[in-house]
Amino acid sequence: MALLEVKNLKVDFDTQDGVVHAVRDLSYTLEKGKTLAIVGESGSGKTQGAFALMGLLPKNGRATGSIRFDGKEILNLPLRELNRYRAERIGIIFQDPMTSLNPYMRISRQMTEVLEHHKGMSRSEALAESVRFLDAVRIPDAKNRVHMYPHEFSGGMRQRVMIAMALLCGPELLIADEPTTALDVTVQAEIIDLLVDLQEDFHASIILITHDLGIVAGTCEDTLVMFNGEVMEYRKTEELFANPEHAYTKGLLSAVPRLDQKVERLSTVSYEFMAGARKA
Ligand SMILES: Nc1ncnc2c1ncn2[C@@H]1O[C@H](COP(=O)(O)OP(=O)(O)OP(=O)(O)O)[C@@H](O)[C@H]1O
Ligand SMILES: [Mg+2]
Repeated sequence: MALLEVKNLKVDFDTQDGVVHAVRDLSYTLEKGKTLAIVGESGSGKTQGAFALMGLLPKNGRATGSIRFDGKEILNLPLRELNRYRAERIGIIFQDPMTSLNPYMRISRQMTEVLEHHKGMSRSEALAESVRFLDAVRIPDAKNRVHMYPHEFSGGMRQRVMIAMALLCGPELLIADEPTTALDVTVQAEIIDLLVDLQEDFHASIILITHDLGIVAGTCEDTLVMFNGEVMEYRKTEELFANPEHAYTKGLLSAVPRLDQKVERLSTVSYEFMAGARKA
């Protein structure tokens, strides 16, 4: 059985100017332990499609269709039931870590709170576990740094803390919504490498939302391309890179070298990968 099955998802927003159709028809299947990239330009419905599944839609939004997680329909579940899925079974990493880290609370308290609440750990057990996770996301000197406040971390380090927090309760599904856009290019590459490594260790399925096809190549098995709330193309990533079917995907792919020109060293890596993927 697939871990996640999204069928004909639609998300509409009521606005003063009428109804906005943010997601018009989204369907995909994610197997256990697999990675799916959802790619598309700004406003194509990537985030709202994921928010619908987490019950995080803004108040003026409504979703229809079907989202089955581990065989159970979770679309529009009451918040109390959905809360059992969030954090424990589905983790999310937001684009901007400062939207989900509390600036006034030490990292240690933000992490231990989650573990005490969801896993019933004592404070000291939870602290030891938090340090273990900060180690796993390669925060240097985690034992001491766990007691710091978010502003004492660099942007890349804060994003690592977010990843650690999203993984804390051992979720089966991890949704990473543009986890690296706020970061500079070298840090981006490190974070993506980290996600790939962590997936091997934690065996979570991953949905990686990005507008950057360059990131997707070495990372995700399947890629779904969205445009204007609809699926343009949904295939194995290798096939999509080797032989894009849709004009919009071709356009996105041709934009990859242009985006990469600023970062010559990284683009070499991704081209080598793509050449390898084509040969294989
Ligand atoms: N609260 C809201 N009310 C009305 N429209 C909204 C609301 N939230 C989002 N939208 C619209 O829904 C559409 C899809 O937005 P979404 O955030 O999913 O895009 P995205 O693909 O994630 O873009 P980005 O790459 O910029 O993050 C956009 O047209 C957006 O303006
Ligand atoms: Mg978005």
